[in-house]
Amino acid sequence: MKAASIASGWTSPLSGWRAHSSRCACALRLKAPGRAYFDRRRLWSTASAIVLAVVFSTLLCPERAFGQKPEYEFYYEYRTVFSDHVQEQNHWSLTNEQVFEKYADKLRSDGVAESEIARRLRLLRTEHATLETDFYSRYYLDSNANFNHAPNRFLMEMVKGRQPGVALDYGMGQGRNSIYLASIGWQVWGFDPAEAGVAIAQKQAKELGLILHTSAVRDSEYDFGKERFDLILFSWTMPFVPVEKVLGALKPGGIVVMECGTDFLPNRNAMLHLFDPLEIEHYEIVRDKADWEGRRVVDIIRLVAKKQ
Ligand SMILES: C[S@@+](CC[C@H](N)C(=O)[O-])C[C@H]1O[C@@H](n2cnc3c(N)ncnc32)[C@H](O)[C@@H]1O
Repeated sequence: MKAASIASGWTSPLSGWRAHSSRCACALRLKAPGRAYFDRRRLWSTASAIVLAVVFSTLLCPERAFGQKPEYEFYYEYRTVFSDHVQEQNHWSLTNEQVFEKYADKLRSDGVAESEIARRLRLLRTEHATLETDFYSRYYLDSNANFNHAPNRFLMEMVKGRQPGVALDYGMGQGRNSIYLASIGWQVWGFDPAEAGVAIAQKQAKELGLILHTSAVRDSEYDFGKERFDLILFSWTMPFVPVEKVLGALKPGGIVVMECGTDFLPNRNAMLHLFDPLEIEHYEIVRDKADWEGRRVVDIIRLVAKKQ
C-alpha cells in the first residue's frame, strides 16, 4: 500500500510542479528579459531542485521522515542484533559497559576506524535517551519489528466491564493500546518521544474514525495536569519523572495499570513500591511471553493500583 501510494503520488505533483514553473518562467520572460530573467530562472531551477530533493528523499527514505539522524543509524543494528546476541550468549549477565567493550572489539575486527569506534562509544555512553528515541522511531517504521502489535492482554482484562473514562497512555509507542481504549469508548491522551510511533497511531485512529490526543514528547516535557485521568497506563514503560507528578494527574478513584519486565528496575519489587501512595489492587510477577523484549518468555510484573 505504501509503495502504491508513493508511486501514485509521483506523477501528478511532479507534472503539476513542472507546469507551474514553466508558466512562471513564461511570465518572467515577458516582463523582464535579459540578465535579470536568467538570474530569476537560475533561482527558480535551484529552488525547484531543492524542493524536489527534499520530496524525493522523504518519499524514498520514510525512516528519515521523523527526524531520525544518520549519525545514529549504527544504534539500530547494535540494539536489535548485537547487544541482545551478546547478552544471550552471556545469560543476560553483562553490564552495559561490558557490552560496549565487546562492541568495540567487534568493530575493530570488522576493520572500522578507531575514530568511528570512539564516536559510537561516546554516543552509547552519553546520549542513551536520544539514541533510544531515534531507535523507537525507526522500529515503529520497520515492518519486521518484533513486538506484539495487538493490544496488551492484561490491559484488556483490567478494563473489561469498567465504565470508560479518560485515559493516559504513557509512552504510547505506535498506539496499539490507545487505539484499543478509544475503540471501546475511552477518551484517550497519550505521549511518546518517538515521533514515528505517534504519527502511526494518529494515522490509524483517523482511518478508524477515532480521536486520540497525542504529543510527541518525553514525560519530562509533558503537562500532566491535576486529577484528569481515570486510568494511567504503563505498558512496557515506566515513569522516568518523579512518580508524584504522575499520580497527581490521577482522579480520586482512578487506577494505574502497568505491565513491564522485572528487569525494568534493578530491584525485583521496586516497581511495586513506586506505587506505595496508592492502594494496590493487583500485583503479580508471572513468567510469560513478553509483548516486547524480543517476545521472549520473561518475568513480567502486572499491577493495578487505585488512588483513594
Ligand atoms: C517498549 S516500548 C512500549 C510502547 C507501548 N507502550 C507499547 O506497549 O506498545 C517503550 C516506549 O517508551 C517510550 N519512552 C522511552 N522513554 C520515555 C520517556 N522518558 N517518556 C515517555 N516515553 C518514553 C519509547 O519511545 C517507547 O515507545
